[in-house]
Amino acid sequence: MTSKEFIKAGLKKWLTGACDQMKNILVTGGTGYIGSHTAVELLKKDYNVFIVDNLSNSRREVLDSIEKITGRKPSFHQFDLCDRKSVQEFFSRNRIDATIHFAAFKAVGESVADPLLYYRNNLETLINILEVYRDNSLDNFLFSSSCSVYGDQSRQPIDETAPLAKAESPYGNTKQIGEEILADTIRVNKFSGIALRYFNPAGAHESGLIGEYPLHPPSNLVPVITQTAIGKRASMTIFGSDYDTPDGTCIRDYIHVVDIAKAHIIAMERLLDKKNKKPFEIFNLGTGEGNTVLQAIQAFEKVTGVRLNYQTGARRPGDVVKVWADTTLANSELGWKAGQTLEDIMRSAWKWENQLSKVLI
Ligand code: NAD
Ligand code: WQD
Repeated sequence: MTSKEFIKAGLKKWLTGACDQMKNILVTGGTGYIGSHTAVELLKKDYNVFIVDNLSNSRREVLDSIEKITGRKPSFHQFDLCDRKSVQEFFSRNRIDATIHFAAFKAVGESVADPLLYYRNNLETLINILEVYRDNSLDNFLFSSSCSVYGDQSRQPIDETAPLAKAESPYGNTKQIGEEILADTIRVNKFSGIALRYFNPAGAHESGLIGEYPLHPPSNLVPVITQTAIGKRASMTIFGSDYDTPDGTCIRDYIHVVDIAKAHIIAMERLLDKKNKKPFEIFNLGTGEGNTVLQAIQAFEKVTGVRLNYQTGARRPGDVVKVWADTTLANSELGWKAGQTLEDIMRSAWKWENQLSKVLI
């Protein structure tokens, strides 16, 4: 080998190695709740993070918090993913190695009141990105799915092979249809994708710098608990106490948002490293454990020492009685297991709520 060839080969090796370290990851909805926690985990692992978000349910300040935690700032692009031209332009300007598609509307009640808003936003965003994947032979796509795709199921825990029942809401239906759109596209266009079905994400980053920070008032249990405890709400209601469960309240699988974020890194690397066993795979993300609403409240009171002002009330229409995940597949195939407990969720959510009231509001 001549010295010129030697330098050329060295340079090539260095460049290839450097590229391995510097994969470009698109996180849609990356200033949102789960997206921001995932962006942090990606930046910690030295990926280049591109966030696309129209800030319809999140705030620009989240970017500063991500930088405070990681020392790095994602490349931020504010536009609506329903705008096909903007999506195409974004991909034509940026080489993307993998996409993690979080952007969607997620309020179940709102989707019942205005189904078309949900069908347009959640499906059009997905279709616009997948069209670019098709037209440019891109690879590696992660889709935010949800336990809501299972509908009402009598057998618990639920594994990924359970036949899907009718979704309880238009929101849940957008996730069912979204999975189908992705599966059909992958079948024809020969790329790889994974759908992750989250159960009940909750909690916040240990730093207290990011957490659930939506523009609209949250209606999920954990933020309702912390908002009541801090006095933003005078009291809270437990929706139904006469269900067929040990204490009469509904059972859910509450999973720490950082555990969810970490699962995305593992799933994404499975795709990047071509370790996936099928072009389209689906995994449940839960703890594998169900807790009642009362158990959640007790866990909060135990770790914070704060007594919660709550009363029991009527059942909430559309609530399923119990749902929790069989996580065997994610445990064995991804080598991932939720590491944090319900108490960790409550501790971190409380730290975040306190931070919000001190600094941000
Ligand atoms: P979030 O509302 O906090 O984040 C979603 C982000 O997407 C927001 O920042 C919003 O501004 C953005 N967005 C929405 N529509 C957009 C559009 N058309 N163009 C650009 N940006 C847009 O929600 P989240 O809790 O972080 O949820 C992320 C994903 O996970 C969603 O797909 C949701 O359906 C799914 N999911 C969430 C839960 C949960 O309980 N949080 C459970 C299961 C699945
Ligand atoms: C949990 C439990 C309520 C508030 C939703 C979506 C699902 C997924 C996760 C996105 C239930 C009870 C709540 C309150 C209460 N999201 N509760 N008082 O409904 O299990 O799931 O988020 O994909 O698709 O449907 O979550 O946090 O709203 O409720 O008693 O003020 O807490 O009845 O039993 P849910 P949740």
